[in-house]
Amino acid sequence: MNQLANSPQARDIANYLHPFTDLAVHRTVGPHIFHRGEGIYVFDDEGRKYIEGLAGLWCASLGFSEKRLAEAATRQMETLPFYHNFAHKAVEPAIELAEILVERAPVPMSKVFFTNSGSEANDTQVKIVWYYNNILGRPEKKKIIARRGAYHGITLAAASLTGLQYAHNAFDVPLDRFLHTDCPHYYHHAEAGESEDQFSSRLAANLETLIEKEGPETVAAFIAEPFLGAGGVIPPPQGYFEKIQPILERHDILFIADEVISGFYRTGDLFATETYALKPDLISMAKALSAAYQPIGGVMLSEKVHEVLVEGSRKYGIFGTGFTYSGHPVPTAVALETQKIYQERDMGGHVKQVSPRFQQRLQALADHSLVGETRGVGLIGGVELVRDKASRENFKPAEKVGPWVMNRATENGLIVRAMFNDTIGFCPPLIIDERQIDDLFDIFERTLDEGKDYVATL
Ligand SMILES: Cc1ncc(COP(=O)(O)O)c(C=O)c1O
Repeated sequence: MNQLANSPQARDIANYLHPFTDLAVHRTVGPHIFHRGEGIYVFDDEGRKYIEGLAGLWCASLGFSEKRLAEAATRQMETLPFYHNFAHKAVEPAIELAEILVERAPVPMSKVFFTNSGSEANDTQVKIVWYYNNILGRPEKKKIIARRGAYHGITLAAASLTGLQYAHNAFDVPLDRFLHTDCPHYYHHAEAGESEDQFSSRLAANLETLIEKEGPETVAAFIAEPFLGAGGVIPPPQGYFEKIQPILERHDILFIADEVISGFYRTGDLFATETYALKPDLISMAKALSAAYQPIGGVMLSEKVHEVLVEGSRKYGIFGTGFTYSGHPVPTAVALETQKIYQERDMGGHVKQVSPRFQQRLQALADHSLVGETRGVGLIGGVELVRDKASRENFKPAEKVGPWVMNRATENGLIVRAMFNDTIGFCPPLIIDERQIDDLFDIFERTLDEGKDYVATL
């Protein structure tokens, strides 16, 4: 084999099926391989340094070199590298982690169930909601309403909740019983002359119409990210949840808050449930729960739901769901250490201190000729690129303006993400400081200016 054929790139192309990757393109471009991390920076295999402007996949909240997390994992591996949590068994870090999560929950919560990922958390939510209604003797009450533009993951149930075409194409999802209501994006979906509050009222009315059309006795739950993340970083329009929540209550519909991106100080609050005064019955979490150093997710449930699950056990015996690695000692130990670090370093206070600079630099991009809308909260933001500011017309997907900007940003030393409608997403590690925020936006502004030249060639 010659040297090229034996390169990591060639071996990758030969053997590795990548998640969320254009497989046809990958055969020619191959992988971009990352080798090490330091603070908010990552370095590729050729030693090039990048600001990780998306914290990996909205998750590496403590950056890429937090030694305490490596030590927590090592300590746990040397003490008890694995033990399970089925059939009344338990491990200490899982007990402690569940305890602090329940203690610090943004609304009264009763229990935590651990998964390995956000998708599994949402999948488990669906199972819990169906189980709940079966035990309550309401076998018809099973439909779950999510929103167009939402991202909830990729297992069969989570992908069915997701409201983005790329997660559905040719996968035969959404499955039955999964419905989608309006995307709460005022910029694109408001009617002429409609205020943000009126827009929220119309969406709430549409939701209620959908519930009534389906029959409230068939609708079990509504799931929402407090702000849409992978769907384009879309904070809720004014009055949105205030109008939605009474409708759910009126029709006895459980509210699942998907805090997989928003949880653990992304908005400055521990959970965005607090930021937006939500009253969920169930909360999904993952990602920054362990600062992404170990795969772990979870579902937090209220006592109202939990007591029905206990009733289920009186009928069926075991609560028949769980993963081999639910409550795995290593991820739970790392998540526990992550939570300790958040407390000791006052991560909420830090985000509240630096996020005004982040939001100010983000909003300043709105003046750029390619930018239609900037939006964000805390340390997350999106910049939507448009062909025409006045009409809000996007570029055609085939023109690949968002991907071009993303790739040029990478060449310029900044990793960000191009999403639907050429929205570029920013979600840096929470440890970012003001100088680094300036570096991030300086690079991005330069990239956008270069983007003008690209657009001129279209
Ligand atoms: C809001 C939300 N929910 C669920 C998921 C799925 O999480 P995972 O990729 O860990 O399965 C994601 C992933 O980005 C997400 O953003």
